[in-house]
Amino acid sequence: MPKLYLETVGCQMNVLDSELVVGGLRRHGYELTETTEDADVIFFNTCSVRQHAEDKIYSALGRLRQHKNAHPDTVIGVLGCMAQKDQELIKKRAPHVDIICGTGQLAQLPALIKSARDTGTLQIALSLDRTESRHEVERSFESYDPMRDPSMRPNRFQAFVRIMIGCDKFCTYCIVPSVRGPEQSRPPEQIAAEVRQLAGEGVKEITLLGQTVNSYQYPPRPTGGEVLGVRGSRLSDLLVRIHDTPGIERIKFITNFPKDMTDDLLQAVRDLPKVCPYLHVPAQSGCNEMLKRMKRMYTVEFYRDMLNRCREIVPDVAISSDFIVGFSGESEESFARTCALVRDGKFKNSFIFKYSPRPGTRGHELYADDVPEEVKKRRNNDLLLIQNAASLQDHRRYIGQRVEVLVEGPSKNAWKQDAGSPMQLTGRTRTDHIVVFDGNPRLAGQSMEIDIDDATSFTLYGNVVTGEHIGVACCEMAVDRERIALPLIG
Ligand code: 5AD
Ligand code: SF4
Repeated sequence: MPKLYLETVGCQMNVLDSELVVGGLRRHGYELTETTEDADVIFFNTCSVRQHAEDKIYSALGRLRQHKNAHPDTVIGVLGCMAQKDQELIKKRAPHVDIICGTGQLAQLPALIKSARDTGTLQIALSLDRTESRHEVERSFESYDPMRDPSMRPNRFQAFVRIMIGCDKFCTYCIVPSVRGPEQSRPPEQIAAEVRQLAGEGVKEITLLGQTVNSYQYPPRPTGGEVLGVRGSRLSDLLVRIHDTPGIERIKFITNFPKDMTDDLLQAVRDLPKVCPYLHVPAQSGCNEMLKRMKRMYTVEFYRDMLNRCREIVPDVAISSDFIVGFSGESEESFARTCALVRDGKFKNSFIFKYSPRPGTRGHELYADDVPEEVKKRRNNDLLLIQNAASLQDHRRYIGQRVEVLVEGPSKNAWKQDAGSPMQLTGRTRTDHIVVFDGNPRLAGQSMEIDIDDATSFTLYGNVVTGEHIGVACCEMAVDRERIALPLIG
């Protein structure tokens, strides 16, 4: 059996793409391997959102140069966002690469491997860039979602379902609209069928994915308004449609765009019991001047009102956010406004990033990267401290409360424990809070009631209420931070 090594960086969309790549290649007889040493095919599914993610891939490719010399039959491929963006650079920096395959062409991979083998030449499959006509560009970004493969998921009871691809917002710092193409929503019946299929395979929690998931609209609204008499399906309609799928217990969706957080959606979150009261709605900045430069299309006042509206309509909602520090022109005053938003926002958590200029974006073209690296670092740390204090406050609210947790499995610290002692498990609440407690690993995939008795900025700690009651509180064996997955963009 040929062996495939696949490394994935980046957001949940990439994690899902990797699952589909593996699903497709298994049908061609491939099995997965954990090391590059014995792999026949080595793939990197890449991310271009920040320079750091690209640097990591070029280093990994550099390390494979000798391996390729010694094993010329090994096929090496760069997939995803970097492939779509930088084919010339990849050819130059890693001439030993055999396949360059963009985000919209992943279905071609089995054929590309074969051609690379047969011809010994570089195979390139990319979608059109966004200067071509919209219709042609849309057609060149294909999503091939039905080919699932559960072995690429962290577990068998949680799965991602893509409801749209691409993005049309064009925030000035962001490369996603170029590398993932135009926004295209999938038909609701296709999504509902995929959810039914996953439920049949034992999936209990699905997370609907989209770069701006709450902009979902099928059929797409034609520019200039609605087709007379046809409203189409919005995210709220889609939630209603998939809600009663037997076997599905929880439905989440990421990532939301603040402007599209409409009342119908919030009411659906409130009224549909399986839809989790958790909203990831990136603010990016708390300063109007920065938001304007970022072309986010809202003001901080709008964002604050939106937070209030979310909390009024969905009283127990947990909200998380993303922020970029050190964007071009960010003064100390601008940054202070962001700090104020993080202080007031009552976010469950925030992901904080230093601005990384991306060639090919409007931001890179129009504005200088004028905030020095040390200043970005300091602002990043300062904002993290503010968010950590807010997260601790948010987490401490749960002490003394009973929460429902979907058990994900042993925590990463479990191996440190003595044999014979109850194992440390981890799971998430419906509000996406991470909970650590002791129990039997057989509980993975089950929903349990947990009494919370302690909290840090990152984790809640508690005891199982019913069934396998162990009664041991596990206090400062903190869950590691890497478990908090990086957000999808939005
Ligand atoms: N530099 C730094 N952070 C970025 N993000 C997107 N583009 C950039 C960039 N050029 C962040 C945004 C987004 C998250 C996934 O990544 O905060 O929400
Ligand atoms: Fe689209 Fe989100 Fe990137 Fe803005 S930040 S362009 S909304 S993917």
